Amino acid sequence: MEIRKVAVLGAGTMGHGIAQVCASSGFQVALGDVSDVQLAKAVEKVRGSLEKLASKGRLQGEVADVLGRLSVSSSMDSVLDGADLVIEAVPEKMELKLELFRVASAKAPAHAIFATNTSSLSVTEIAADTGRAERVVGLHFFNPVPVMELLEIVRGLSTDDATIEAAVAFAKRIGKDPVVVKDWPGFATSRLGIILGCEAIRMVEQGVASPADIDKAMKLGYRHPMGPLELTDLVGLDVRLAIMEHLFAELGEQFRPPALLRQMVRAGKLGRKSGEGFYTY
Ligand SMILES: NC(=O)c1ccc[n+]([C@@H]2O[C@H](COP(=O)([O-])OP(=O)(O)OC[C@H]3O[C@@H](n4cnc5c(N)ncnc54)[C@H](O)[C@@H]3O)[C@@H](O)[C@H]2O)c1
Repeated sequence: MEIRKVAVLGAGTMGHGIAQVCASSGFQVALGDVSDVQLAKAVEKVRGSLEKLASKGRLQGEVADVLGRLSVSSSMDSVLDGADLVIEAVPEKMELKLELFRVASAKAPAHAIFATNTSSLSVTEIAADTGRAERVVGLHFFNPVPVMELLEIVRGLSTDDATIEAAVAFAKRIGKDPVVVKDWPGFATSRLGIILGCEAIRMVEQGVASPADIDKAMKLGYRHPMGPLELTDLVGLDVRLAIMEHLFAELGEQFRPPALLRQMVRAGKLGRKSGEGFYTY
């Protein structure tokens, strides 16, 4: 199946980046969000990022052409109208994702593939109520989307081969390098990434070392490009807490969220997006 129009639902950290790479790769993109403020911010972020890429000679085509392929709206009808691929990037809450795909099932074309950018939730469960479970797949992008090469493609229990093939072709078309993994809590990436973040926060709680030194230890000792606490700030403490809660319920004790993380989220210290997390921005 040829994908021409991509609908991206949720214009936050991930949604605007996904919309940017899709529009840059020649797709028509409709970006939807419940918040007009978020949509306006998303367009400015995409414009800023495209201009930066263009100034470094790393953008194929003109900024105006890419922006010309991107439309934004808070009306689900117009966002989903004619979409061949619907990518959901709303907060990591099962109820929210189920409700969104319930609406999308009624409004998107029958042939459309539904993809979820969930970091940890069950793709099989998200698919079950859509009436097209064979055409539901996980497309797990990484932050920042225009920079990160990996696309983790998650095969739900009912996902068919044609959908996986379409997802792999789509990944290549947008310049990503895919891996296909089975739908299992935390997939391949989040399961390992979260456990490292979880332990790093426990080490801060226990006073083993400062956040800067824990990050430095992993960067210089293990050649990680970013430390686990810097990464937690980039991802968002609330996002990481939600993933930990889910993996704790599914996989057990090793994922129990540290009390310090809960406290920081309660205090609104969400990382880069709020100006403070393990570091101040
Ligand atoms: N932040 C990361 O680094 C990262 C990485 C990979 C995957 N993810 C996953 O991507 C998803 C989104 O995460 P994020 O960090 O972009 O979240 P975010 O909070 O930055 O953005 C979510 C957006 O969804 C919008 N939204 C909420 N309800 C909606 C609805 N019903 N319809 C349309 N829009 C709605 C919000 O207004 C917000 O703009 C989550 O499932 C998360 O686990 C996040």
